[in-house]
Amino acid sequence: MHIHRLEKIWLQIGIGMLILFLAITGVNAFAMGQQPPTGHHMIDPAKVKETAPFDKPGLHKISENEYELVIIGYAFGYTPGEVEVPAGAKIRFTVTSSDVVHGFQIPNTAVNLMVVPGEVNHMTYTFKEPGDYLVLCNEYCGAAHEGMKMIIKVR
Ligand code: CUA
Repeated sequence: MHIHRLEKIWLQIGIGMLILFLAITGVNAFAMGQQPPTGHHMIDPAKVKETAPFDKPGLHKISENEYELVIIGYAFGYTPGEVEVPAGAKIRFTVTSSDVVHGFQIPNTAVNLMVVPGEVNHMTYTFKEPGDYLVLCNEYCGAAHEGMKMIIKVR
């Protein structure tokens, strides 16, 4: 079979690029440890209230200027329904659901999490401005979905 010279060159470039890209991916994955996130944090959604840290919902100090805010979403609200956090502190949100899928969104901030039964979701955020921040559910979860909210008082 005759292959035109230019086609041969083109094939060689293609095969060369394929080997190069696979080599880069391989080195990244095996030599540099770039892997998909593991240790996916899952819990039993029927035992949320007995499972740490959700047995103690609310604000917990981790270190100087760093806090964990543990929240359970349920139809139709959040536990705690209101919490006070210090302005300028790093807040690590830890959220899960005790029933169906909910949302956890604070308008005008970067905070937007899915609240999924059986899964623990995290996000870190620092409130720079004091004020009352409304948390809303942005996943339709039932008849009173639009009333599902909580207040974060940043002081
Ligand atoms: Cu919870 Cu919508």
